[in-house]
Amino acid sequence: MKSLSVLRAGVSEIPANPLSVSEHPHGLPTFCSIDELLNLYQGDDHIYLIYPEKIRKAARLFLNGFHGRSLYAVKSNPHPSVIALLWEAGIRQFDVASLREVEFMATHYPEAELYLMHPVKSRGLIARAYGLGVRNFVFDCEEELIKIRDCTREAPDLNLFLRLSVPKGAAALPLAGKFGAEFETAVPLLKQARPLCARLGVSFHVGSQCMTPESYDKAISFAAGAVNEAGVNLDAIDVGGGFPVCYPGMDMPLLTVFFDVIHKSLITHGFGHCDWLAEPGRALCAEGGSTLARVELRKGNDLYLNDGVFGSLFDAGHFRWNYPLTLHRNRPPSPMDMLNGFRLFGPTCDSMDVMEGPYHLPADTAEGDWIEFAHLGAYGFSMATGFNGFCSNTFVAIED
Ligand SMILES: Cc1ncc(COP(=O)(O)O)c(C=O)c1O
Repeated sequence: MKSLSVLRAGVSEIPANPLSVSEHPHGLPTFCSIDELLNLYQGDDHIYLIYPEKIRKAARLFLNGFHGRSLYAVKSNPHPSVIALLWEAGIRQFDVASLREVEFMATHYPEAELYLMHPVKSRGLIARAYGLGVRNFVFDCEEELIKIRDCTREAPDLNLFLRLSVPKGAAALPLAGKFGAEFETAVPLLKQARPLCARLGVSFHVGSQCMTPESYDKAISFAAGAVNEAGVNLDAIDVGGGFPVCYPGMDMPLLTVFFDVIHKSLITHGFGHCDWLAEPGRALCAEGGSTLARVELRKGNDLYLNDGVFGSLFDAGHFRWNYPLTLHRNRPPSPMDMLNGFRLFGPTCDSMDVMEGPYHLPADTAEGDWIEFAHLGAYGFSMATGFNGFCSNTFVAIED
């Protein structure tokens, strides 16, 4: 079992219960249902739920469906239980960005292959990562390329990826503008990097929650243009993350359609001989996690919760993101059980801690009820701060 102390932190508020003793590799207290959990829970914090089978299913989808290596983007949910489940399911490559992510992975999963895909790294991070066995590094400008060379003492065994700035796609959360080489700089950078590395690749990110497979096709076509213009031999192409999850109100093709379009495009554009990589974060862990938040007060159509924008509900506040919602209450549902649109407030004293919604819940929702925000396994826990002392490290697994 990995990192017991991290896994155990925060679960002390779950009373010992023979049913919840966990022998699972994820190491979490395990319950058959949310109601069983809530009957025992005596803590004050919101609760993170992990659905191990959903995480395994997402991993299988990528491992069987994408014809290349699927690197889990650790940033999307770095909790040890999530990483343990993905490892158990067969994910062996990881996209890491920071010293903490590198050290955690290198310490607990020494056999994992790490890809340091942050285009701007500190010198200390590069040197430490190389010392810990990392050989895959990304760069998007000459300065970073030289930095990587300097900090690895011109190591002959580097696998370097040039991050490209690709045409704007159809992502709900575009990532354009911060990183990536434009065509004019990409061409000389590819030529410059080729003799400096053992293997040369290109990478890009079409934006998170990308709604159309054509965005990948366009990005691959752009990458082919740069590589052909540079006239270099390429060893690898990394199509990044961005694979979408079916949140309420968002329609997109199945992931298998994305894979088909990507595979076809890679072949058509002359990347058939290369290693293929992808860096899914959201699509590997979103559906396998939920946040369970308690209603602390109701004022008309406003509900005050014990989690909010400074916790795991950042996207709900900032982008009015919607999630499948389920109410759990310790009383029978009202006979009518009509739905009502609510505005939600988080627990901190900050007036920005608001989620306008409207979020539709049973009209008789009241203090003490718990709301499950599903599909929040990605960019929920990982975005949470401890602002005002409101946070949670209580993770449990729900296994049917
Ligand atoms: C370099 C890189 N790779 C992968 C990801 C994961 O993206 P997603 O969660 O949209 O799949 C991100 C997200 O920001 C990223 O910056």
